[in-house]
Amino acid sequence: MILKTIQGADVPALGLGTYLLTGKACRRGVAEALEIGYRHIDTAVAYGNEKETGEGLRDAGVAREDIFLTTKIWMDALAPGQIAPAARESLSKLDTPYVDLLLIHWPTPDLQLEACLDEMQGLQEAGAARHIGVSNFPPDLMRRAAAHAPIFCNQVEFHPYLNQNALRALSQECDALLTAYSPLARGDVLRDKTLQDIGAAHDKTPAQVALRWLIQLDRVAAIPKAARSKYRRQNFDVFDFSLDAGEMQRIEALACGKRMVDPSWAPAW
Ligand SMILES: NC(=O)c1ccc[n+]([C@@H]2O[C@H](COP(=O)([O-])OP(=O)(O)OC[C@H]3O[C@@H](n4cnc5c(N)ncnc54)[C@H](OP(=O)(O)O)[C@@H]3O)[C@@H](O)[C@H]2O)c1
Repeated sequence: MILKTIQGADVPALGLGTYLLTGKACRRGVAEALEIGYRHIDTAVAYGNEKETGEGLRDAGVAREDIFLTTKIWMDALAPGQIAPAARESLSKLDTPYVDLLLIHWPTPDLQLEACLDEMQGLQEAGAARHIGVSNFPPDLMRRAAAHAPIFCNQVEFHPYLNQNALRALSQECDALLTAYSPLARGDVLRDKTLQDIGAAHDKTPAQVALRWLIQLDRVAAIPKAARSKYRRQNFDVFDFSLDAGEMQRIEALACGKRMVDPSWAPAW
């Protein structure tokens, strides 16, 4: 496992995303991921699977302190006075006294950012969240958040087709993690000729090459989602090879501004 050290804390660079994993498939998937060796799990209120994620964590029997667990507050609870109850409900569903990372899932147009961050810091001080952060924050908003509170992470879409250079630079400045969601471009990377070629040289799949590329970048973690056991195993099998500078640059050159996740409520990127 590669660890990223952020604000003095270690974060496993590869995690399991759980969007669209629900019910028994989620419980089994999370438990199996931990058996495979994953120690970083990403969930959210909006995924409707916190209870099953918690059950999977319990089934696996891995010590809680060895797991980096993230959840996210949905837009309907993003107001002072509502964040703490929402987070407490998440903890209750996850059946854990704390999450490692509590994120604002999406910025809203009328977001009272500083007041929300103050409430999240209150949760941090109370031991309910080890770290606090944001998701889907464009550079200006990330800068504003980091000026107010120690933002540990910005979780954004990031894969070979979407350049996140501005946020990468900002992560350096703010000592923050940039967590790459949809790191496989929801499967599109599989058909990529460059990734196939690089993979062939290492006996790896294009998905493994894309993940390796991300986790080799400074301060970047990746959270691929896989309902299939075979994919969960493949995605974790990226620690026995590395990409050289030329290969990293060839992947960097694939960026074309393609977004897989751009809902109506998205901010101006
Ligand atoms: N903060 C946010 O707003 C936000 C937004 C989107 C996602 N996320 C997080 O990021 C996680 C990952 O993103 P994502 O689910 O959008 O997309 P993704 O991880 O890029 O892609 C998932 C898709 O790729 C397939 N796949 C996984 N591993 C594979 C492999 N080794 N070979 C071939 N196909 C493979 C999966 O198949 P199967 O599942 O069918 O096995 C699934 O269809 C989410 O689960 C969630 O935790 C956060």
